[in-house]
Amino acid sequence: MATTKITKATTKNAVTKGTAAKAAAGASKKTASTKKPVSKKTAASAINEKKKILFVASESQPFISTGGLSEVIGSLSKALAATGKYDVRVVIPLYSDINRKYREKFTYLGNLYVHLAWRNQYCGIFSYEHEGVIFYFIDNEFYFKRPGCYGYYDDGERFAFFSRAVLEIMPFLNFYPEVMHCHDWQAALAAIYLKTNYCFREEYQYTRALFTIHNIEYQGQYSLDLLGDLFDIYGSYQYLVEYGNCINLMKGAIECCERFSTVSPKYAQEIKDPYYAHGLDPIIRRNEFKLTGILNGIDDKGYNCALDNHLFKNFTPEDFSGKSVCKSELQKMLNLPQKPETPIVSMVSRLVSHKGLDLVTNVIEELLQDDVQVVILGTGDSHFEGFFRNLARKYPDKLSANIVFNGDLSRKIYSGSDIFLMPSKSEPCGLSQMIACRYGTIPIVRETGGLYDSIKPLVNGYTFSNYNAHDMLYVIRQAVSDYKNKEEWTKLMYRAATTDFSWSHSAKDYEALYLNMLK
Ligand code: GLC
Repeated sequence: MATTKITKATTKNAVTKGTAAKAAAGASKKTASTKKPVSKKTAASAINEKKKILFVASESQPFISTGGLSEVIGSLSKALAATGKYDVRVVIPLYSDINRKYREKFTYLGNLYVHLAWRNQYCGIFSYEHEGVIFYFIDNEFYFKRPGCYGYYDDGERFAFFSRAVLEIMPFLNFYPEVMHCHDWQAALAAIYLKTNYCFREEYQYTRALFTIHNIEYQGQYSLDLLGDLFDIYGSYQYLVEYGNCINLMKGAIECCERFSTVSPKYAQEIKDPYYAHGLDPIIRRNEFKLTGILNGIDDKGYNCALDNHLFKNFTPEDFSGKSVCKSELQKMLNLPQKPETPIVSMVSRLVSHKGLDLVTNVIEELLQDDVQVVILGTGDSHFEGFFRNLARKYPDKLSANIVFNGDLSRKIYSGSDIFLMPSKSEPCGLSQMIACRYGTIPIVRETGGLYDSIKPLVNGYTFSNYNAHDMLYVIRQAVSDYKNKEEWTKLMYRAATTDFSWSHSAKDYEALYLNMLK
């Protein structure tokens, strides 16, 4: 059973001595307040007549990002807070790569020790309020003072500590959320610990876990030997986390949570099928009664062609003239001939197989025989990176391969190209197709997951259904030919750029789901 020892804030890991000292006073006050009965309403909790939601995730914008998950954590939490109905807070690890600009402003709240099996680990707590949302950062230098977020031999232990810390800091903060919204396998253990341990304590009895799958491919699988020693799970609960003769944390969270969701309705259907489920389909089918699919939104203010200062020139859906400047400047920047009538087909993607790269590598040379230019941005598997580098050497006037991760260039590509290719084999939601639309760039997508739910043929893009290279090429050629009809194409650009991809619908769906869970 986990025990928490709350200690005074010390200068260790504090941003400055001053903040730590101030926090020390606050922390000891908090220690006292946690002893009060939880049901008693304090002045501080009076503001919290609002429902309390805690997002538990391994990354969040604007602090740290390796992909779509962080965008969703940052923008959904903000959208929910903006309704005024929820006290939304987010907790993530304090990685050393967290953006300095923000980190310097974090407040040190104090520290406690988190007990996990035989380990007793320091856990510092920092906080920062951003756009109506309070963010907490879990500090432990042994686990998180490393470059990047993932890919370490002890990731299981790191996120077990993080998940346990999330439950342990609740008394310290005197914040017991009604909904603990856990995202992906890194936060799965928070749902598992709630069900197997904490829910039996009075303070946690009203906390319900929602588990959201952003990608079923990454499940957090470990040897069964680690059950007690690393994850501190009793043998009697092994059945909850065991799958395929190993520990599967995503499976455990699906079993333990009150409800679970995916990031698009189509993906919620797809993961019942072995083709998409990476082995978990029997578990998904058995728990189907608690599954919902809610399409992600994007931060439509952050992706706004009229205001985005990364663009060579701003434009609006009513007047796309600035977009031609974006296009010719992009061509210049990437050393492509500045041809206004030649459509640019772009991809901003991780260069990995499930993003449909196999289809692209299969037919791209055929496509390059046509009057098109192709722009690639992204990093990934070395054979795909090498493939595009070689192709750029072979077709310097037609293909630009940018094997980097560059946020500024990505926006120049979204705004300066005409067609955006996203032929994923599977795509839980996908945000790039929505971003492309916002910049009047027409997506061509495979009908899967969130691509299917967000892009409708000839309404705001082009689609194809089979995972087949020539089906894709056929649709690209259709789009390239339609591109010549300027009047119709401009109407299509307008419809794409004005499609509502904001959180307004989906945040309501999450609200309904939360309320349903709390009934
Ligand atoms: C994952 C998925 C992607 C989704 C994102 C945010 O990265 O692969 O499809 O858009 O999470 O939910």
